[in-house]
Amino acid sequence: MSDMAASKPQVKVVVAGLTKRFGDVVAVNNVSFEIMENEFFSLLGPSGCGKTTTLRCVAGLESADEGRIEIGGRLVYASAQGINVPANHRSIGMVFQNYAVWPHMSVFDNIAYPLKVAGLRQQEIRNRVERVLAMLAMEGLEDRMPNQLSGGQQQRVALGRALAMNPQVLLLDEPLSNLDAKLREMMRVELKRIQKETGIPILYVTHDQTEALAMSDRIAVMSGGVIHQLGRPEEIYNQPRTPFVLDFIGVVNYIPCRIALSADGGARILLPDGQEAVVGTVAGTAAAAHGAGQLGVRPEDIDLLDPVGAPAGTVKGEVEFRSFLGSTYEYRVRVGELALRVQTGKNVHFREGARVAVRINHGHFLAAETGATGQRAS
Ligand SMILES: Nc1ncnc2c1ncn2[C@@H]1O[C@H](COP(=O)(O)OP(=O)(O)O)[C@@H](O)[C@H]1O
Ligand SMILES: [Mg+2]
Repeated sequence: MSDMAASKPQVKVVVAGLTKRFGDVVAVNNVSFEIMENEFFSLLGPSGCGKTTTLRCVAGLESADEGRIEIGGRLVYASAQGINVPANHRSIGMVFQNYAVWPHMSVFDNIAYPLKVAGLRQQEIRNRVERVLAMLAMEGLEDRMPNQLSGGQQQRVALGRALAMNPQVLLLDEPLSNLDAKLREMMRVELKRIQKETGIPILYVTHDQTEALAMSDRIAVMSGGVIHQLGRPEEIYNQPRTPFVLDFIGVVNYIPCRIALSADGGARILLPDGQEAVVGTVAGTAAAAHGAGQLGVRPEDIDLLDPVGAPAGTVKGEVEFRSFLGSTYEYRVRVGELALRVQTGKNVHFREGARVAVRINHGHFLAAETGATGQRAS
């Protein structure tokens, strides 16, 4: 028991009330989060939402206007006290999208460079570079020049250079977006493995929700300079707290309807064409128990059934279009005036033109008055 208490995770990075303006643009607006040791933490949001600016403020490449930043227990930025430690004294490692490996230096020299600058002894440099190469599964490639490496290997060299200094935190800004799809997926797993092996926390920036969901311990979803929601990937996906998060993470059908909740957490909804559907569970109903609005439904939360003997609570539809995606089918199903996207397992197949019974298993209710599923995170 006491061992458990002793190994209570440590906070490695604190960002509190961070604000950064460019003229009239508030790029980062009162953003707060903490990153724990050994944590993979992502900032996720569309282009222009303030991810890079937040990262650059943590790195010390950008001077914030307000707030406080701690790295490894050390205050590196505080607007109130006028503290602003320069980037090269913040104990960070960084990798960007355009992984800048130096083309005229070998793999060894690329990784060794910051160690030489830091004045480490020859033998220590050799030891560290070898350790990093082993970790990156790049042993034996130390004499290669960058143009003799694949894109993925070059990206590893950039990562190795950031890791060699044993930083308090790794800052990664869309590091995989220049790689092709297969390699990107492989590097996701690699990055996660390296992170868990070294225990060095990662602050990861991406606009790619799949990437963030796959790799992160926790995700902060950003839009317009603010964090909408911060939580584990499952929470972000299953319990979106704002319409923006619902919409940005994954695919959503918006079904205009009138809703009447039932005691068991489900609901009856009246569709525009007059059909009534029973929905298994409904989230985001705090705003309104009854009334008009929209039900946001993900494609995998809809089932297609044989219309003959279909259970009560299903509605009638017709398959307009079907595409086979390998492990799943994606359908477009017409229900009155609605065209719903539906995803099913590969063993459920209805032909185009087939009549089907549509069952909605789960939805997020957005009341017409507020358009919100819940409170906005600050
Ligand atoms: N150096 C800069 N000068 C002026 N505006 C900037 C600068 N850097 C970023 N911005 C603005 O700040 C906002 C956030 O940008 P950024 O942090 O790069 O977003 P993201 O990385 O999420 O795409 C955008 O509106 C962008 O145009
Ligand atoms: Mg960016």
